[in-house]
Amino acid sequence: MSIIHVPVLLNETIDLLITDKSGTYFDATLGFGGHSEAILRKLDSSGKLIATDVDDNAFNYCKEKFKNDKRVSLYKFNFSMVDVIAKIESVTGFDGILADLGVSSFQLDKPDAGFTFRTETELDLRMDKTKKQTAADIVNELSEDELSEIFRDFGEERNHKKIARTIIKARENKKIKTTIDLKEVIGAITPPNYLTKTLTRIFQALRIYVNDELNMLKEFLVRSVDVLKPGGRLVIISYHSLEDRIVKDFFRSESVTTLSPKEDPYGLQKKSARLKILTKKPILPGREEIIRNRRARSAKLRAAERL
Ligand SMILES: C[S@@+](CC[C@H](N)C(=O)[O-])C[C@H]1O[C@@H](n2cnc3c(N)ncnc32)[C@H](O)[C@@H]1O
Repeated sequence: MSIIHVPVLLNETIDLLITDKSGTYFDATLGFGGHSEAILRKLDSSGKLIATDVDDNAFNYCKEKFKNDKRVSLYKFNFSMVDVIAKIESVTGFDGILADLGVSSFQLDKPDAGFTFRTETELDLRMDKTKKQTAADIVNELSEDELSEIFRDFGEERNHKKIARTIIKARENKKIKTTIDLKEVIGAITPPNYLTKTLTRIFQALRIYVNDELNMLKEFLVRSVDVLKPGGRLVIISYHSLEDRIVKDFFRSESVTTLSPKEDPYGLQKKSARLKILTKKPILPGREEIIRNRRARSAKLRAAERL
């Protein structure tokens, strides 16, 4: 496999994540093992790394990469099952949990992985190929209002209504099967200098919807806190504002002892704080890292500690 994924904010992640060299760590987004490799370098022989990824290529690549390291256990599970994996591995509490969200450079750049609109492939966008619905199914089957909502909520696309309407019209004549079919439909109503940005937003929206990414992230965050040891660290790297907002709001709600007025309108209940926020503001990559690795430009790292 020739396309390498360069891990983002690597030193910052390791510094925040690892507090005990003999501890047990969870990498929720194994990818091509960049962060995992750095974690293992830091751990001693009694340390342990458990990691997961739903993508076949990533999982198989890392199975081979780490096959001689007895400290490693790999899973092909959705990361929202972090608590189930902890149970299988008899882990009572992780010392650190990392999620480097989104897709890898390999998924984005490999023409036949189906994530890019730069080459013609089936309009798929599933990370986990066992999931039933592809992006093509969604584009060909959902109603105009449903598509419009997806483009608005998950792509923050201003032209969501017009794009949905155009898709509905286009598919009456011919099914939209490939990435280029969709690009042509959107290209017909978008000025050429806006096309790449518009397509990026539409593909992001479809990807989030197909993989149910925001709900999986919410579930993962809640369950991660359940399986962190006191003093254990949760480190999340996100790449767009929808994900970052979820992480920020979750950290905030878990770090206060009172419920919000919406959750507890009469102020009768108290809950205990479970997290201490370690990054008041998110950590961003420096200029040098962005020059070296374009994918890093939108990264935001947030970290918290289990109380
Ligand atoms: C940005 S890449 C991780 C790269 C990795 N940190 C490295 O250094 O190689 C994100 C990975 O998370 C995986 N992924 C995304 N959502 C997932 C989920 N809900 N469960 C498991 N894996 C997921 C993707 O398949 C992808 O391989």
